[in-house]
Amino acid sequence: MLRGSCENQKIVNKMGTAARSWVNRKPNETMRLIVTTFVGMVFGFWIGVCFPTLSLTKLNLPSSLLPNTDLSYVDDQRSGISTQTLLNALNPLNHNNSSSTQAQLLNGTSKIWVPTNPRGAERLPPKIVKAESDFYLRRLWGNPNEDLTSKPKYLVTFTVGYNQKNNIDAAVKKFSENFTIVLFHYDGRTTEWDEFEWSKQAIHVSVRKQTKWWYAKRFLHPDIIAPYDYIFIWDEDLGVEHFNAEEYIKLVRKHGLEISQPGLEPNKGLTWQMTKRRGDQEVHKVTEEKPGWCSDPHLPPCAGFVEIMAPVFSRDAWRCVWHMIQNDLVHGWGLDFALRKCVEPAHEKIGVVDSQWIVHQTVPSLGNQGEAQNGKAPWQGVRERCRKEWTMFQGRMANAEHSYYTALGIDATNFTGN
Ligand SMILES: *[C@@H]1O[C@H](CO)[C@@H](O)[C@H](O)[C@H]1NC(C)=O
Ligand SMILES: *[C@@H]1O[C@H](CO)[C@@H](O)[C@H](O)[C@H]1NC(C)=O
Ligand SMILES: *[C@@H]1O[C@H](CO)[C@@H](O)[C@H](O)[C@H]1NC(C)=O
Ligand SMILES: *[C@@H]1O[C@H](CO)[C@@H](O)[C@H](O)[C@H]1NC(C)=O
Ligand SMILES: *[C@@H]1O[C@H](CO)[C@@H](O)[C@H](O)[C@H]1NC(C)=O
Repeated sequence: MLRGSCENQKIVNKMGTAARSWVNRKPNETMRLIVTTFVGMVFGFWIGVCFPTLSLTKLNLPSSLLPNTDLSYVDDQRSGISTQTLLNALNPLNHNNSSSTQAQLLNGTSKIWVPTNPRGAERLPPKIVKAESDFYLRRLWGNPNEDLTSKPKYLVTFTVGYNQKNNIDAAVKKFSENFTIVLFHYDGRTTEWDEFEWSKQAIHVSVRKQTKWWYAKRFLHPDIIAPYDYIFIWDEDLGVEHFNAEEYIKLVRKHGLEISQPGLEPNKGLTWQMTKRRGDQEVHKVTEEKPGWCSDPHLPPCAGFVEIMAPVFSRDAWRCVWHMIQNDLVHGWGLDFALRKCVEPAHEKIGVVDSQWIVHQTVPSLGNQGEAQNGKAPWQGVRERCRKEWTMFQGRMANAEHSYYTALGIDATNFTGN
């Protein structure tokens, strides 16, 4: 509809031009023009019916487009505003008659350059700059300032395949109306989800066979999701029977957790002690691991650590973590060990919420969508890449820190990547 309505406007403009010049055309062209004009008139009538209040002069025409716009048409009976008035309003020289202002404008010394604007937008007057956005859905009609009936403060994303629809339906129901729901579809199936009422309000992003971190890097830029206090970036195979998102957020706020995850029910071979749910408290931030696993009790995997399957980030923490995500390391392995670099002190601001907990069902999903190569099953190739990425990520982080300290003249040979 939106695109349609803009194209209609173009047709209207064309129609105005055609109507004025057709008398000069050759007869065969004239025939074509009659047809075009007739079609245009029908369209124009249709627009009148569909958008009775549409007034072209009220549209915010970009000034660079105006010279190409058929202003004589804009000037017609629909509005009382004359073309001259419209052009005058667009010309800054007309706003002030003082000669010094005019000279400045002509001289170019009053050209706008605002270094504090976002990079690349320095030529704009600051008050027009909108550096941040949101996922709020708007209407195509009415007053823009009346579009939104609510502004959700939290965001939850699930990376999904249609086969997991029932699990996701159950999960979404644990998130209140205070959440914006985003689904990243790795199997290309999106419309089928509309069987769920909530799906019609959700944001659907469909790109085949990509991973959660690939989507997050591309579609969850901190400036795009700026209004959200907390961002849940979750897998599709989580059991949420004992989880309530509003309660979770209350606890996260109460305990000052910038990066967190719900405790995991130890049903299957759990990898890390840190993320295991404890029955006797709301939240925990440190744990004991197997002997020798933690060089420092304040470092992963004993503290400052959550896994990548169900992380929850505060706005500020996400701004940092987004920048750490590598475009090519799509599985995110190793990221969990580095999250602590984004908050300080990490062993106090990263933790696990025990009283709102989930079950990791380990449903094979994207992991199965690799390609069979050299006689190996598809999942093996994916798993190998995960490990490889982990090594690469660690290497890049170590190099980056080394370069930083070396540039400062600090001997970095004794740093161990902590
Ligand atoms: C016009 O310019 C003068 C002097 O530069 C200034 O005092 C006055 O406020 C300006 N008027 C408007 C409408 O901008
Ligand atoms: C600007 O000056 C012209 C004459 O030089 C005058 O006719 C016009 O009304 C003035 N406009 C404003 C906005 O003062
Ligand atoms: C025009 O710009 C030049 C240098 O850019 C400056 O020296 C001159 O004073 C300016 N003139 C006016 C009227 O502002
Ligand atoms: C949504 O947020 C508002 C404002 O924080 C709160 O009053 C309301 O209880 C929340 N909704 C639910 C279902 O918790
Ligand atoms: C690095 O470690 C060695 C031995 O552990 C020590 O002698 C040296 O002073 C350390 N260098 C710095 C800059 O801390």
